[in-house]
Amino acid sequence: MLSRNFFLLAFLSSAATQIRAWPGDNGVCTIIPNGNGRDDSDQILAAINAPDCNEILLPQPYTYSIQQRLLTDLSNKVFNVYGTLLFSDDLAYWINNSWVTDFDTLQTAWIATGDNWVMSGGGFNQGGIDGNGQAWYTRAQGYGNQPGRPMSLYISNATNALVKDFSIRQPQFWAFFVDQSKNITLDGVYVNATNHDPAEPPADPRDGNLGNNWVINTDGIDTYRSDQITITNWVVQNGDDCVAYKGNSTNIFVSNVTCHGGNGIAFGSLGQYQNRTDNVENITMIDINLLPSNVLNGNLTGAAYFKAWVGVSMGTPPNGGGGGTGLVNNVTLENFTFQDADLPVYLQSCLTYSAYNVTQYCNTSTLEFENVVLKNFQGTSSGVNNGSVVSLVCSPSAPCQNFDFVDFNATVPAPYTPQYTCDNAVNVTGIDCISSSG
Ligand SMILES: *[C@@H]1O[C@H](CO)[C@@H](O)[C@H](O)[C@H]1NC(C)=O
Ligand SMILES: *[C@@H]1O[C@H](CO)[C@@H](O)[C@H](O)[C@H]1NC(C)=O
Ligand SMILES: *[C@@H]1O[C@H](CO)[C@@H](O)[C@H](O)[C@H]1NC(C)=O
Ligand SMILES: *[C@@H]1O[C@H](CO)[C@@H](O)[C@H](O)[C@H]1NC(C)=O
Ligand SMILES: *[C@@H]1O[C@H](CO)[C@@H](O)[C@H](O)[C@H]1NC(C)=O
Ligand SMILES: *[C@@H]1O[C@H](CO)[C@@H](O)[C@H](O)[C@H]1NC(C)=O
Ligand SMILES: *[C@@H]1O[C@H](CO)[C@@H](O)[C@H](O)[C@H]1NC(C)=O
Ligand SMILES: *[C@@H]1O[C@H](CO)[C@@H](O)[C@H](O)[C@H]1NC(C)=O
Ligand SMILES: *[C@@H]1O[C@H](CO)[C@@H](O)[C@H](O)[C@H]1NC(C)=O
Ligand SMILES: *[C@@H]1O[C@H](CO)[C@@H](O)[C@H](O)[C@H]1NC(C)=O
Ligand SMILES: *[C@@H]1O[C@H](CO)[C@@H](O)[C@H](O)[C@H]1NC(C)=O
Ligand SMILES: *[C@@H]1O[C@H](CO)[C@@H](O)[C@H](O)[C@H]1NC(C)=O
Repeated sequence: MLSRNFFLLAFLSSAATQIRAWPGDNGVCTIIPNGNGRDDSDQILAAINAPDCNEILLPQPYTYSIQQRLLTDLSNKVFNVYGTLLFSDDLAYWINNSWVTDFDTLQTAWIATGDNWVMSGGGFNQGGIDGNGQAWYTRAQGYGNQPGRPMSLYISNATNALVKDFSIRQPQFWAFFVDQSKNITLDGVYVNATNHDPAEPPADPRDGNLGNNWVINTDGIDTYRSDQITITNWVVQNGDDCVAYKGNSTNIFVSNVTCHGGNGIAFGSLGQYQNRTDNVENITMIDINLLPSNVLNGNLTGAAYFKAWVGVSMGTPPNGGGGGTGLVNNVTLENFTFQDADLPVYLQSCLTYSAYNVTQYCNTSTLEFENVVLKNFQGTSSGVNNGSVVSLVCSPSAPCQNFDFVDFNATVPAPYTPQYTCDNAVNVTGIDCISSSG
């Protein structure tokens, strides 16, 4: 049955991109690649849009060439991407034609939308997406939020969807972004952004002798304006946030995530847009394991961190901003392990990514952080920040409240002793916190 399907579809797709399920196919439309460097986007989109294709099957071991931006309404469909969608490395095409999202005008190569759908990949480190990210890492070389770099998969205005057994290798930018969506489960996901360029002479003193080839902006997943998101059984290797919550991420459950390298778990950035409110509420995370990665600049900078922009607006997003407000409330982080984290837990309330000197505005953020439980954190710090293992630098305009550390054990290398600093924080329990001013 499959082979007949292959034959017919190959024939049809070479004539015109009209794809349908044939009687006896049970609504399954199987696509094989056009081959010879030809684009497969049209035939995949035609199958997704064909009313009688209930399931669109891209079998292994095929690789499908994606040379055009994708917009897929997957409502009531099953999309089995067991083979690999290889996004082209025609940087000029993507820079000029990627979809523009309404977050920071960041771009995306693929928008998935719709109600009630399932998308499966080919399992752990197989099938799914190959973003051809190396071309983007080489172009960016550590330049943050470089214009034109598209996210791999933007799930937007979607409801009741399941993404499972899905891999994104070499994402161009953020691997996943979930925005304006509700009840989305992402289970069994593998993301790996690894830069293979040789080390370059250091440009930034923080690079030490490791070169400046960061795989910056390769976040595993960011959530925004979304409710009821479940993230389970993930493995991420990258050079930026592993899981990040942006404004209005609510009722999120995360468990069994292993992050290699990068920045750890991020609450933020928040408050980037003037006069906008960013709330992050009801977050539960269990069994999160954070490790350094084995590659260039593979340090783990933190286990969990919180970041709010300054309370005044300076410059424009994505690298400028500030002046927004909001609330981070009811967060439970339980059973975290981490190895050689530069600063295991920290909160910054004076954030900017631009060149402005914002020192004089460090007391202006009105983003509130409260009711955060960190339970059973076990691990080691790298010593890069001497003995500092917790640093909560909250804004006097919105003091942190109720941070409860339970069984918090971050060890530091000799000759340091663990240090916990808290500024403008009310009711911090379970650690011996001192003010940074002594
Ligand atoms: C969101 O998706 C629904 C279908 O799931 C559609 O009817 C609606 O127009 C979409 N809204 C936007 C803003 O795209
Ligand atoms: C969430 O979506 C799943 C499908 O992925 C569906 O089975 C479930 O009923 C939905 N839950 C709610 C509360 O709608
Ligand atoms: C990610 O890919 C790199 C290079 O391809 C590999 O060395 C590394 O083991 C991978 N990481 C994980 C967690 O699979
Ligand atoms: C955690 O997730 C990994 C990666 O998907 C999986 O191999 C492992 O079985 C999961 N562990 C548990 C306890 O479910
Ligand atoms: C934010 O509000 C202030 C005061 O109302 C106003 O001056 C400013 O233009 C607003 N900024 C934006 C980006 O809307
Ligand atoms: C976040 O939710 C609040 C409360 O519902 C709303 O006022 C605010 O506009 C939302 N912010 C964004 C960025 O959508
Ligand atoms: C906090 O969030 C959890 C889910 O993450 C929820 O079960 C609990 O009821 C919430 N607590 C409050 C006080 O809202
Ligand atoms: C947080 O969880 C509580 C308890 O389930 C619920 O009452 C509240 O509405 C949730 N908050 C948000 C912002 O969804
Ligand atoms: C966290 O780990 C402890 C000890 O291993 C275990 O007893 C507890 O049930 C775990 N918590 C959750 C929520 O799984
Ligand atoms: C930034 O501004 C502060 C005072 O507002 C000043 O003390 C500091 O030297 C400035 N830093 C730089 C790098 O200019
Ligand atoms: C990475 O960590 C090692 C120690 O674990 C440290 O020597 C090195 O300076 C760190 N590199 C950066 C860029 O922080
Ligand atoms: C903290 O962890 C270290 C190993 O990383 C262990 O030797 C020590 O006993 C732990 N301390 C407590 C109080 O659990």
